[in-house]
Amino acid sequence: MKYSAFGRTGVQVSRLCLGCMNFGDDTNEPNSITMIHAAMDAGINFLDTANVYSRGASEEVTGKALADGNRRERVFLATKFYNKMADDDPNAWGGHRFHIIREVENSLRRLRTDHIDLYQMHRPQPTIPIDETLRALDDLIRSGKVRYIGTSTFGAWQIVESLWASKEYGLNRFVCEQMPYNLLDRRVERELLPMCRTYGVATIPWAPLAGGLLSGKYGTKERPADARYALRSAPFARDNEVALQKVEQFTQYCNERGVAPAQFATAWVLAQEGVTAPIIGPRTMEQLTDYLATESLTITAEDRQQMDTLFPPGTNVSEYYRADFGPNARWV
Ligand SMILES: NC(=O)c1ccc[n+]([C@@H]2O[C@H](COP(=O)([O-])OP(=O)(O)OC[C@H]3O[C@@H](n4cnc5c(N)ncnc54)[C@H](OP(=O)(O)O)[C@@H]3O)[C@@H](O)[C@H]2O)c1
Repeated sequence: MKYSAFGRTGVQVSRLCLGCMNFGDDTNEPNSITMIHAAMDAGINFLDTANVYSRGASEEVTGKALADGNRRERVFLATKFYNKMADDDPNAWGGHRFHIIREVENSLRRLRTDHIDLYQMHRPQPTIPIDETLRALDDLIRSGKVRYIGTSTFGAWQIVESLWASKEYGLNRFVCEQMPYNLLDRRVERELLPMCRTYGVATIPWAPLAGGLLSGKYGTKERPADARYALRSAPFARDNEVALQKVEQFTQYCNERGVAPAQFATAWVLAQEGVTAPIIGPRTMEQLTDYLATESLTITAEDRQQMDTLFPPGTNVSEYYRADFGPNARWV
């Protein structure tokens, strides 16, 4: 496993981050723990979860896996706050101090740890001035409960505004952005990635396979019965007709090149300038093994050119964002 500096912090993180979203949900507890241990044994030292993943179940199973031996101290452990944690409480979500202080305690308990290495705001909340959120997060760092803070799915301008606020008020700054990035959705290339490179912000792209669409098992006619987009209703589905046609051409390219589509799609994200570590999202041990093989795959100049023709830089054919995106969102 290769490691690289986590933005300007200097922390060495594995070039693949293990996403724990399926754990405690589509992946049962014993399998989740076995997979977390297998990923660590393969050199992964960077784990990503969130309070909202199965409303705490992912954090619980992750905490259980890390309670084994000295695993916790060797892992750079990331989790998130912001999304809705209860239906009957108007303050059970958001970027305000009231929620953040309560929720960090809940995450620490579920994760069985006394500190979180990277505490991320899952979505921006423009109705709250960012210095309010930053000051609460800064207090968590100063109290030792959190080491670093980050964002997820922020606009470039929102991160720059936060850096400005941190400087103005002498507060710890966000050091990392977690964004959707894959061949089907290349919007972050327009402004977000260049901004992160300019300001030394680490980048950990989510959904490198567009939720599985780039794994080779989907096409205009194929829709596997036991996969994410068939098992769940898809209010945010990326699988429109144009996307699926391109996915078929992509799969054909991989087949002719003799590489597994899932490995190629992940390796492509890994190879993009300014990417610190894509977040992989295995549901099964076989999928984890596939993702782990990514590191040995080299994306050539020819690969880049072919992909740029099929999925032009900066474009999005997967229609992921929706106007009704909000704290009630259910991931699909
Ligand atoms: N910040 C955010 O808002 C956000 C949002 C989403 C995810 N994330 C993070 O990013 C991580 C990864 O996201 P993601 O799960 O969407 O990643 P992804 O890599 O785009 O999709 C993962 C899914 O693809 C399918 N898959 C994976 N490998 C495969 C293979 N070799 N063959 C066939 N199918 C395969 C599996 O689903 P099926 O087997 O069910 O088809 C798997 O759950 C999450 O665990 C989470 O930590 C963050």
